[in-house]
Amino acid sequence: MSEEFRETLPLLEFDRELGLDELLGGVNKKKLHDCLSDLLGMSFSICSTKGEPVVGTGDAIMECRLPLRAEMEVVGYLETPTDLEDKSRSAVTLIELLLHSGARYLMASTLHLHAVQDDYEKLQQKNTALTESEARYKDLSENLEQRVSEQVKTIEATQLQLYQAEKMASVGQLAAGVAHEINNPIGFIQSNLVTAQSYVNDFSELAKQVGAGVDVDKLQKFFQEKDMEFVLEDFQGLLNECIEGARRVSVIVKDLKGFSNVDRSEEEVVDINDIIQSVCNISLSEVNKNSELKLALASLPQTRCRPGQLGQVFLNMILNAAKAIKEQGEISVQTSFKGDCIVVSISDTGSGISEQNLKRMFDPFFTTADVGGGTGLGLTVCRDIVKAHQGKIEVESTLGQGTRFSIFLPVVG
Ligand SMILES: Nc1ncnc2c1ncn2[C@@H]1O[C@H](COP(=O)(O)OP(=O)(O)OP(=O)(O)O)[C@@H](O)[C@H]1O
Ligand SMILES: [Mg+2]
Repeated sequence: MSEEFRETLPLLEFDRELGLDELLGGVNKKKLHDCLSDLLGMSFSICSTKGEPVVGTGDAIMECRLPLRAEMEVVGYLETPTDLEDKSRSAVTLIELLLHSGARYLMASTLHLHAVQDDYEKLQQKNTALTESEARYKDLSENLEQRVSEQVKTIEATQLQLYQAEKMASVGQLAAGVAHEINNPIGFIQSNLVTAQSYVNDFSELAKQVGAGVDVDKLQKFFQEKDMEFVLEDFQGLLNECIEGARRVSVIVKDLKGFSNVDRSEEEVVDINDIIQSVCNISLSEVNKNSELKLALASLPQTRCRPGQLGQVFLNMILNAAKAIKEQGEISVQTSFKGDCIVVSISDTGSGISEQNLKRMFDPFFTTADVGGGTGLGLTVCRDIVKAHQGKIEVESTLGQGTRFSIFLPVVG
């Protein structure tokens, strides 16, 4: 309750003693005086218990003093020069009636005042609470947009980390095979270069003899001894082999770099067949362990997509297919264009999936692989990526016969 309001209200206690002056506060004193003068026909005084006159004069000598009661308590006296008996008692009764109604009035107004004070205080509290909650809501609504966008950023960052981790796990799985794919050409390039160096030595020896003016017979003898005809032919072959080997290494490095680069998550307009080709190149050694990889790629329209992410989808599915083939089998990757959708189907002649597992295989961390064999996030990430491309994945599988994943991607111009 405000101090200002408190000051305007008399602090009335409900059970306090009321003074004569207060009880007659609402009575017109002049009219009361005239009325009692008529009744008594002489001077009189109504005074408080301390003798202070409230109505009438205190000049005359008052012989008679009658108590005035309100609520059983003596609150003052009616003083007259002589006792007029009946008239005095009537006057006392009249004054006491006025005192009684004054007391009632004061009590009622005190009650009313208390109720108003209480109501006001409650209203004041409610108002404070409302102001506080309004301020809180205002603050919340002002920050809501910012908070939501911060949350979205955190979720996106976490998701990207998950994709990154999942992708690195696949790269790890491929690492040995890829290393072999690179090591093999580098090995024969090295040995070819050693041979080429000895051939160059022979040629420089020949060039020296020509420069020194050695006669033709000697030159021919050297030519035959060193089998220079074969050297020339073999040199050509060595160089061709080296060029081919270097090309193979550069293709693998390019594919691996393109695949592992998560930053390549921006949209690009590409031919999905190129992504499949790249993924097959880097997964070939892993797949070839016990299966044959067959590609049947139809001509496709270019589409706007995130190639790094789609590559991850195809790789996960090809690796799953390879894992599902225990002995000898076949993995085939086909593309087609139906309606306005590109369809990539990856099928295998592996173990197949039970009906029970079919329902759960897209769940995060669901895996049937041995401990350390898989995180169970491969298909979860596939589903998220395809969904983000407005596409869908369908699966058909027969236990013991094989599985086909079909990925439908709408073409985006
Ligand atoms: N082509 C498939 N043939 C048979 N089972 C499959 C095939 N693809 C997926 N599955 C089943 O679905 C499960 C989940 O696959 P997912 O790729 O999500 O995880 P994972 O391969 O076990 O582990 P990782 O996180 O390394 O990919 C596999 O453990 C396997 O049981
Ligand atoms: Mg997997």
